[in-house]
Amino acid sequence: MSKKQIDEFSGTETTGHDWDGIRELNSPMPRWWVWTYYATILWAVAYWIAMPAWPLLSDYTRGLLGHSQRAQLSDQIAAVKAGQADLIARTAKAGLTEIQADPELLEFALAGGRSAFAVNCSQCHGTGASGSDGYPNLNDDDWLWGGTVAQIEATIQYGIRADHDDTRISEMPAFGRDEILNPQQVDEVADYVMALSRDDDLAESLPGKALFSENCVDCHGAGGKGNSELGAPNLANGIWLYEGGKPAVVDTITHSRSGMMPAWVSRLDQVAIKQLAVYVHSLGGGE
Ligand code: HEC
Ligand code: HEC
Repeated sequence: MSKKQIDEFSGTETTGHDWDGIRELNSPMPRWWVWTYYATILWAVAYWIAMPAWPLLSDYTRGLLGHSQRAQLSDQIAAVKAGQADLIARTAKAGLTEIQADPELLEFALAGGRSAFAVNCSQCHGTGASGSDGYPNLNDDDWLWGGTVAQIEATIQYGIRADHDDTRISEMPAFGRDEILNPQQVDEVADYVMALSRDDDLAESLPGKALFSENCVDCHGAGGKGNSELGAPNLANGIWLYEGGKPAVVDTITHSRSGMMPAWVSRLDQVAIKQLAVYVHSLGGGE
């Protein structure tokens, strides 16, 4: 080793390296920087040992502290559930009207009902429960099977024409297809049905009125006001289950419809069903 060389301009020691007369100054990294650097390496090694770190072929190193984000998440979920346990237990015991009368249970039911509806019901009834062709709008006060909260609960429990002994059931005959009425009679009674929601005087004067009295009032009631015991819709309020208009009405009278809704009693727990009934009842049309 040659003796230290000092750069004459800066007064700093050089490394002794020389390129075509240009000498490299010896300016090492500051100590604090180097020590911080070593500390991060130590930290990394300690972290590998303590925490889950390295992937293996079919597993990973789990670390001595046994930390797991999955376990953390299920702890958090369990904590939320425990927080709700009291509300769930009270909902399970309470009757529907008790739930509606208790602000805390009501709020819990509306939140639970809304999310259960989004998961289970919106495919058929639409996200806002506004329905579509063949699937009733649940926001209006026109009900096929009754709009009290208890009737709504029964509909949800057992479904409509569903695979359950207590399901709601009734079959409108296929008047045209089964030749109970001939095509002209179907046309006449359809004209009468169309007039019911538009012009009472006109309806009174139509030949379809007599046909309606003979064939339809047993289910749809006098003046077509409907019957929720039989799920027979009100035909006089201008709200249609199957797209309004005479062609759809002729189609219904000819072939009948028999809309189906699944029974939920075996798919959802009773708390969820109560919450759904309260939620649907709250949508605006509850009786
Ligand atoms: C597979 C489609 C489908 C699903 C899913 C479905 N429904 Fe229905 N729902 C129907 C049909 C179709 C009707 C009408 C049946 C008829 O013509 O009588 C109906 C009728 C109803 C009625 C009666 C309306 C009235 O006017 O009386 C209520 C209440 C109801 N559904 C609530 C629900 C709730 C709550 C859920 C979710 C748990 C749900 N539905 C899921 C198809 C469905
Ligand atoms: C046995 C009972 C029953 C009889 C009788 C009956 N209906 Fe119905 N009707 C129903 C039911 C139940 C529905 C509900 C639709 C379904 O099946 O999904 C319905 C639906 C309808 C609809 C569709 C309403 C809408 O909102 O889209 C029309 C229109 C209708 N009926 C007309 C008639 C006419 C006209 C007659 C007589 C010629 C008649 N019905 C006889 C039970 C009956």
